[in-house]
Amino acid sequence: MLVTCGLPYTNGPCHIGHLRTYIPADFYVRYLRRAGEKVVFICGSDNHGTPIVISAEEQSVTPREMSERYHHHFDTTFTRMNIGFDHFGMTDDPTNHNRTQSIVQRLIDNGHVYRKTISQSYCPQCERFLPDRYVEGICPHCGAMARGDECDQGCGKHLESGELLKPVCKVCGGSAEFRDQEHFFFKLGDFSEFLEDYLPNLGGTSNARNYALGWVKEGLHDWCITRTLDWGVKFPGRNDLVVYVWIDAPIGYVSFTEEYMDAEGDDWKRLWCGDGRITHFIGQDIIYHHCVFWPALLKGAGYGLPHAVVASGMVKIDDKTFSKTRGYVVWTNEDYLDQGMSADYLRYYLLSYTSHTKELNFSWHVFQERVNNELVDTLGNFLYRTMHFAHKKLGCIPECRPDAEICDEIQKSIITVEGFVRDYEFKNAIDAMMALASFGNTYIQKNAPWKLMRDDPDQAAQVIRNCLQLVKALVLLFEPVIPGKAQIAWEMLGYSDAIAAHAIGEGITGLESATLPAPSIIFEKIEDEQVSRLDAILKKRVSEAKMKEKIPETISIEEFAKMDIRIARIVAAEPVQGSEKLLRLTVDLGDEQRQVVSGIAQFSTPAELIGTDVVLLANLKPAKIFGIESNGMILAAGDEASLLTPQKPVKAGTKIT
Ligand code: MSP
Ligand code: ZN
Repeated sequence: MLVTCGLPYTNGPCHIGHLRTYIPADFYVRYLRRAGEKVVFICGSDNHGTPIVISAEEQSVTPREMSERYHHHFDTTFTRMNIGFDHFGMTDDPTNHNRTQSIVQRLIDNGHVYRKTISQSYCPQCERFLPDRYVEGICPHCGAMARGDECDQGCGKHLESGELLKPVCKVCGGSAEFRDQEHFFFKLGDFSEFLEDYLPNLGGTSNARNYALGWVKEGLHDWCITRTLDWGVKFPGRNDLVVYVWIDAPIGYVSFTEEYMDAEGDDWKRLWCGDGRITHFIGQDIIYHHCVFWPALLKGAGYGLPHAVVASGMVKIDDKTFSKTRGYVVWTNEDYLDQGMSADYLRYYLLSYTSHTKELNFSWHVFQERVNNELVDTLGNFLYRTMHFAHKKLGCIPECRPDAEICDEIQKSIITVEGFVRDYEFKNAIDAMMALASFGNTYIQKNAPWKLMRDDPDQAAQVIRNCLQLVKALVLLFEPVIPGKAQIAWEMLGYSDAIAAHAIGEGITGLESATLPAPSIIFEKIEDEQVSRLDAILKKRVSEAKMKEKIPETISIEEFAKMDIRIARIVAAEPVQGSEKLLRLTVDLGDEQRQVVSGIAQFSTPAELIGTDVVLLANLKPAKIFGIESNGMILAAGDEASLLTPQKPVKAGTKIT
């Protein structure tokens, strides 16, 4: 079977949000291999798309140079985190250019692609078309500020070219206009019936299946699959167009498999053109792409279909949504590994904190608590007590066989863990492993071999033999979670080979070695001082981000004077049909009345607004919002859109100076 992970974009470093895709996938693959399955584990970096071109322009490097830099960064970060892909490719490599063009050509040949002239945002100052993130404006669905391809801060909807209202060029900041251009579209709408059939049987987590089915039932739009850009995979036969990044990125899964299988002398078609049992691990933010768009694309091109999509909930930090600009981010290298922290501790925490499909609210304090109470005090304690006693008092592994009740307990745990892993309930699987460690602690405490040593040395040896069996089983079970620590513990049992070469079922078979090396302490507590240090890094970043937000560039008094800001009295207010956020207001400026469209519907009712004096930016260029002309902007502050009002009564129309 084949397991893949969502491909990281090459325009920024790895953060712990990313890890919620890669660590559970690595855990799952290790587990399946320990359970005897043959698994190919594939990933790579996603190099195309406008955010990467924009970041590269800002840093004065080529998109290829920047991609190589971050590709290498992710590759080494994954190694440091004990995440072991069989192959880590690049979507900009020739294999993927070829595979993408071949698949797109098949879609064309099979009649799933058509051309259509659409209006696209174009910047007359920069003399270029503005695909996706090159343009910003107002979302036609909800009125929030949105990017060209997605309403990222508002309703989250995917936007087609030309839908954005009041487009502004991201490069020069000037207003953009719309120009007609011919593009190619994928007939996603034709795949509704197929998807309604396919999705209920899709394996993986229920969130992926259910969201996708909901979207299909709402109705599917055809997707524009070309962009006016140089950077990307050329659309077949067109030198002026590249394919949309969400075409060539998932095709990367195929290309990277191809690269890996070719090098192994194996056939990639076995995995992609038959029943390859393909499982995709992703975050919840890209379910649409993997469960709607991608299966339709594969179906249209005559490839095999994914067997399962496993989608994690998103990672938050201290209850705040992940945001690089606001400083709510924890970098995997800089903030964690480079601080001398253990990769396996973070793996344990991210895997065992909560159910895979739930949101994960990251906090250093909870991290410390979980690691110290569970890994150190429960698992580490049992391992060390057993190994220390066996080494010091016996010096060898007793020759007796473990008791049947111990083997039964182990067998029960192995079965429980198996069930949970197959259901993608990783947290429950790890809780079941930890329960076996607790059982071990209770067992050694109750049977007190240190007391037995004097009165009944044979019985003491039997107890220790039982504990050693539990240790072996625990180390094998925990290997997928904490592979680095598990290897060290494995060697303490007298083995010199890689634990990864052993099956979980060996947890109930004999211990081969006769002698035991001196044990060391594998799990050390995270001290309060360490947590304060990690927390301080995060706090500093958040406060630095706040400072940046607060102090924008200075402007001259002349620039300020260009703004015509006046007191305006709201004389009429009504909701805008079809929008939850917008209100249509009529404001009085003393000698004239104006119509203004304002995104405050969620915070103020028309009734409480009428009669209110507010502050209006009166000479903002008129614009059409939801088809209604708006002449100015009402000023408001904060997340709740608190309206600014004059402190003492002034006449409507009074200029603010
Ligand atoms: N390049 C796309 C994926 C293309 S797959 C054909 C992408 N890249 S990403 O760098 O933004 O994210 C990489 C992986 O990390 C994705 O699986 C994504 O869902 C996951 N996550 C990124 N940020 C995340 C959180 N804050 N929380 C949880 N997962 C997140 O998306
Ligand atoms: Zn929106």
